[in-house]
Amino acid sequence: MVTIKSDREIELMRDAGKILGLVHNAIADFIKPGVTTYEIDKFAEKEVKKHNASCSFYHLYDFPGNFCISVNDEVIHGIPSKDKIIKDGDIVKIDGGVNYKGYQSDAARTHLVGNVKEEVRLLVERTRQAFFEAMKYAKVGNHINDIGTAIEMYIEQFGYGIVEDYVGHGIGQKVHEDPEIPNYATVKKGIKIKKNMTFAIEPMINLGTYEVYTDVDEWTVKTVDGLPSSHYENTIVITDNEPEILSLI
Ligand code: MF3
Ligand code: CO
Repeated sequence: MVTIKSDREIELMRDAGKILGLVHNAIADFIKPGVTTYEIDKFAEKEVKKHNASCSFYHLYDFPGNFCISVNDEVIHGIPSKDKIIKDGDIVKIDGGVNYKGYQSDAARTHLVGNVKEEVRLLVERTRQAFFEAMKYAKVGNHINDIGTAIEMYIEQFGYGIVEDYVGHGIGQKVHEDPEIPNYATVKKGIKIKKNMTFAIEPMINLGTYEVYTDVDEWTVKTVDGLPSSHYENTIVITDNEPEILSLI
């Protein structure tokens, strides 16, 4: 069931989103060569708690971390680890969820560390742009499929692989609510978009093949060809005009 939020609920999601946006900005300054993904996770947790909020992904489906931290060919759901040391040239995906007074916000960024290959830098920039292309269609009266179609139409010119096994989603009191929001065009139109629906839109784009698999750790999703992947996500609310992006400061 796709829920329509009350103005009061939107207000709480706006607060959650603001906290997550601030935390993402703080993490951007914290990431540098030599830091471990465990240290980034602990830093994220401390920043979230400063705002009297909690990390939504902590133990969600038994996930063993606060934030998902995925490096290079790791697409999503990377487990923070003391053994994973960030180095020059890496791209680091930080995917975080914040729970504030029972309402969720979900957002992801991909950070460039030092000297990143030009083709990878472009992948990251275009993945972010794909989100903003989708925003043009996140409007009252459109359908869910208009969002994925916009992402696919923008991305296909670059020959990248769009991840199909994981999708965007509704969000509210739970991190994952209906509807599913694919990052590609589908046969079904999907539900009609209405005011005060809240979505997490999250293109996951691979430099090479779209195919992914889950690592033996049972969490980390990786590209089959070992090439890098980029992720960008925000929580948004549908309005009478442009969508409002709640998790971007
Ligand atoms: N970050 C994921 C999303 O964007 C959800 C993570 S689920 C977890 O939808 F269990 F891995 F935390
Ligand atoms: Co999400």
